[in-house]
This record gives sequence, C-alpha cells and structure tokens, in this order.
Amino acid sequence: MVPCIRPVTTVVLKPCFTVIMSQTEIEPDAGDALRGESPAEHKREGWAQTEFQLGSGNESTNLGGKTMKLERQRALIEKYLKFRNGEWTDVADSSMRNPASAYVDPHRFEREMKVLFRDRPVPVGLGCECKEPGSYLTAQLGGVPIAVVRQPDLGLRAFLNVCRHRGAPVLSGSGASLRAIVCPYHAWSYKLDGTLLGRPQDWGFADIARDGCNLSQIAVAERYGLIYVQPDAVSRISIDQVLEGMQTEIAEYDLEKYTHFETRTRQWNFNWKLVIDTFTENYHIPSLHRRTIAPYYDDRHSIWDTYGLHQRTVNFRRSIDAELNDKLANERTLLPHTTIEYFLLPNAVLTHQLDHVELWRVTPLSVDRCLVSTSLYAPEATVTESAKNHWKKNLDMLLQVTESEDFPMMERIHAGMASGAAKEVIYGRIEPALSFYHKAINQLLASAPDSEPGIRRIER
Ligand code: FES
Ligand SMILES: [Fe+2]
Repeated sequence: MVPCIRPVTTVVLKPCFTVIMSQTEIEPDAGDALRGESPAEHKREGWAQTEFQLGSGNESTNLGGKTMKLERQRALIEKYLKFRNGEWTDVADSSMRNPASAYVDPHRFEREMKVLFRDRPVPVGLGCECKEPGSYLTAQLGGVPIAVVRQPDLGLRAFLNVCRHRGAPVLSGSGASLRAIVCPYHAWSYKLDGTLLGRPQDWGFADIARDGCNLSQIAVAERYGLIYVQPDAVSRISIDQVLEGMQTEIAEYDLEKYTHFETRTRQWNFNWKLVIDTFTENYHIPSLHRRTIAPYYDDRHSIWDTYGLHQRTVNFRRSIDAELNDKLANERTLLPHTTIEYFLLPNAVLTHQLDHVELWRVTPLSVDRCLVSTSLYAPEATVTESAKNHWKKNLDMLLQVTESEDFPMMERIHAGMASGAAKEVIYGRIEPALSFYHKAINQLLASAPDSEPGIRRIER
C-alpha cells in the first residue's frame, strides 16, 4: 500500500508489535500516576523522538478481502466489551508456577529439540516467500538444517540441507531463480527435486552409486499460505490437523496473496521460549514500554482463544473507544484498532497488524541462545519507492522497541534463572496465553516417548 498524504498518522512501536495511530490519540496512562510521570514526559523524553510521519488512511485497511471476516471482527468486539464490562472471560482458571529449569536445563533443551522441532511439524515461513520455481528458504529445526525449494510445478519439496558428498549445506539463507542446487564446497549439483545432477570428476566416485547420492527428502506441506516442515516425519503433514481449527480464521487473510517484503534476523543470549513469552501478555506494557507505546494500549483486556495447542490473542489500542462511541455494533470494525497474534506452537507468532502481516520465528541454537527472525509481508506487491519506504519504516520501528526493550529484558531474565537466583517464574491468571503455552509444551514433553528414532527420510 502506498502511503497517502491525507490524515497524517504516526507509526508507533509496540515492543511486541507495530501500530499505526494518530498523534492525537495519546492518553494518560494509569501507570504514570504510580511512577509520577506525565504523558507529556513520555512524549518529550521517549517515544516522540522516534516518531515517523507516514500517511496511512483508511485505504490501508482495505485489503481486498485479505482480512478477517467482518462478522468475526464484530463478534470479537462484543467479546472485548463483555471483558471490559466486568465479565472475566479471558483469564486463566488459575496462576501457574514454572521452574526455571524449563528455561535453563540443557537436558530438557535437548528433549525440546526432538519432541517439538523434529518430531512435529514446525512453521518455517509463508509460501509467498518462495513463490516462483527455483526460489527457496532454509531453516534449522531442532538442530537439523533443512531447505525448502519451489518446484517447476509450483509444489514444494524439502530436503536435509546437507550435501551427500561431505555434508556441506547446499543452500544458505533464502533466494530465487535456482536452476539447479549446486554445493558451494566441491560443486556437486542437484536438480530442484534433489536428484543428483553431477559430480565433478565423476570417475573418482564411480564406486559410489549415483542414486544413493540424491538429497534426502523430508516432509513439507503448504496450505493457507503457511509452510510446515518436519525433519523426522513418519507420515505426510496435514496442516488442517496441525492447526486444530485455527485454519478457518487464518484462511480469511488469504496469506497466499501477500508479498514478502523483508526478513531480518538477530541472535540473543536467552532461551528461545522467552521470545514467545514476551508476546503472550500485555501486562508488561505500562512498565517496560512506559516510554514508548504504553499510552496507546489497553493493557488490561486482551481477547484470548485457543485452538488445540495453539492460541490467538487480540490486543486493543485505545482508539477502539472512538469506534465504540461513534458507531453502531453492526458498523464497527476491529482491525484498525488491534494487533492480532496467532501463536503457532512451538516457535512462531503470526501477527496481523492493521495493514500488514508479520511472522516472528525463533530458532533455538542452544539452551541459552536463539535466533529471532522477523518477516514482514505486505498485502500488495511493493513496487514503488514510497511503498518500500513505508514497509521499511514499519519494520525498523517494529524492531526498534523489541530490540531495545523486550529482548534485552529477556537476556537479563535468563541470566537470573541460569544463576540459580530465580528458581521459578509465575504466570498469573491475567497472563492466560503464557500459562497455556507452557502447559502445552510441558504436556507434549511429558507425553512423548523417550526413544530417539533418528531422522526418517521419505524415500523416493
Ligand atoms: S560437500 Fe558438497 S560437493 Fe563436497
Ligand atoms: Fe513487549
């Protein structure tokens, strides 16, 4: 969407999500009174310094059908109103204690890699990241390097990203226009379907059968715009089964029609689950984000729904008040006033943010280190310079707060747990998505068999 110059709006970073809102929406925050800070001080000392003036009129939310159904938007507004009016609907039945070992025990970490990342389908991106034949992406799932390649028939294949010669990764990062997969080490080459194409000086390997030198294929599935891969699959992946009902809502966004703008990555020194933790609750906003986006959000009433092991939260900004005051129930829309987060177990958050979609993925590297990938997808092709500028600024601002406020705090939290000083953490009733997430993971770890089957390959 090309920014317009009509209503001048301000893009505001939320630690866990970007928002676009009017400058005039700044309101006092209850937390300020406790800290003796005024909203004016917020503006002067913090957030105002990072404002970007972008045009984003109502047309930004007109996504040509690529959005949540209006009936669903209005039902969620009604749910929010009940919550706000005192019906404590979207809270957990009880608080939860989780031992620090859930974050710092290396043995548990190894089990997580197997049970959550190798034995179950894991989201690795959106299909629009590799639309054309020869485009590809790579990932690491439970320590296993994988590559996903778009085929000439527009289907996807996934491989272990290891050359059959001496194990070098055959692909790196993401890219497009592959005509063949060529290993960078000694240039063994493979067709896009993984079949061995050539071995330089082939006579030197004449006693090694060529048909045993194809890339090892693993399970991949694509539906509703999402790509899932499972390194250790025993059967084909059914994304309908994986999403456990969430797919009805995700399908409404038509993610296949989005355009991948950019993905940025950065490594951090904390356990991978802390990335998801910081997205699951708004309780921290008035304090951790008091100098940035706190004045813009209702930090007390997030809508929360679950779908099997997955969950979705709807987080409201204060602009919803005007929608409620000025419009009849059947005229209201939700999306201009919310950040909607779909938590895809085990390691991803798909976020709808006013005029675009984000995918946050965490790659665990060790028990105390992880890689955070942030991808931004636009509803239309980003052709013009102004459009590119718009999305770049969105991504800049999105990361500015998470990387200066949320993730540094996660590093300090991890250090406290690793030292033994923090022996447990508490998830309150008002943090229902947090306790649900950890209960789901604990349940999967507890119910998984102990044996280590190794990586199963789909034979050709
Ligand atoms: S490791 Fe790939 S060609 Fe040698
Ligand atoms: Fe945050």
